[in-house]
Amino acid sequence: MIGAADKGTAVSITGLGSYVPDRIVTNDELAQHVDTSDEWIIERTGIRERRMAAPEQALSDLALPAARAALADAGLAGADIDLLIVATVTPDFSFPSTAALLANTLGAVDAAAYDLSAGCTGFMYGIAQAYGMVVSGLSKRALVVGGDVLSKILDWTDRSTLVLFGDGAGAVVIEPVVEPGFLGFELGADGAGGESLWLPGSGSRAFDEPEKYVKMNGREVFRFATRVLVQSAEELLEQCGISIEDVDVYVPHQANVRIIDHATRKLGVPSERVVVNVDRYGNTSSGSIPLALADAAADGRLRPGSLVLMTGMGAGLTWGSALIRWTKETA
Ligand code: ACO
Repeated sequence: MIGAADKGTAVSITGLGSYVPDRIVTNDELAQHVDTSDEWIIERTGIRERRMAAPEQALSDLALPAARAALADAGLAGADIDLLIVATVTPDFSFPSTAALLANTLGAVDAAAYDLSAGCTGFMYGIAQAYGMVVSGLSKRALVVGGDVLSKILDWTDRSTLVLFGDGAGAVVIEPVVEPGFLGFELGADGAGGESLWLPGSGSRAFDEPEKYVKMNGREVFRFATRVLVQSAEELLEQCGISIEDVDVYVPHQANVRIIDHATRKLGVPSERVVVNVDRYGNTSSGSIPLALADAAADGRLRPGSLVLMTGMGAGLTWGSALIRWTKETA
């Protein structure tokens, strides 16, 4: 799916918030559990540490502070939201949805609320859906949360996955604005690669399977990631008639610094325009892009008028890009 967002109401992100758990887990700590080392992890992934949730923390405990921060940033209360999407592969429960629980806690009594499953690309799918609902007039103000607690589904005996992931959540408010705003989206999926990154015992296909941990073919995912990060971004830029030189801030999915470097080189983005925080957080799945946006806002790179290119990829296999002219001025 691809399209320029050049029809109808201008819609943008007007609030941004994020949250990571307090507990920092270093590479050296993981090396006490599996046969790995700080040197190997840094060289092959760029990850130095990640955050992990406390045993009693579920996704909604990470999503709530991120959502509250995004609402405060937009100057809104929970009751102002009429659409709440939580993009995740680690909801509190299969049902009820984490979005419904969160809407209740936030006092978003008029909100349609549901979870969305598109792997690490979930946040990109979520903002595209919210854009569509707001531009059509069906929703007045949407809250999109991307977050995961992947530490809960990690196999602490599998070094090939344990070292890659961390926990975190980010949230954005999406509403009409005076000037655009979102400029376009490109989203896709290829289920043929589904078993390259999956949770085998997690659904109705194999509910009684003992396998409750994430499984990954790292080399396959690496190949896929390097291809789609470039392809999706290039197709979207072409669709919107925008050149890569015009992109001020590039926010790729934070999976591995080598994947980010490859995409950055191929696309021709100067390194100072690339947001990288995988060294501090690892791969936070659906939390990755909103956490990176929050970092770019905090370090002053995300300013009104900045042209921002985001591209996610992940389980499904899925991918998705969005172009947005950053603005905080509401209609
Ligand atoms: N420590 C030490 N050695 C390791 C580790 C580890 N943590 N993990 C794997 N190895 C070993 C392998 O067993 C292998 O050993 P062998 O040669 O004796 O078989 C060797 O290192 C090389 O393995 P490769 O898989 O070729 O290593 P590579 O350089 O490709 O790095 C990695 C592996 C980091 C997993 C890489 O393939 C990768 O980043 N893939 C993409 C992963 C990803 O992005 N997943 C999520 C994306 S979607 C989402 O966000 C949910």
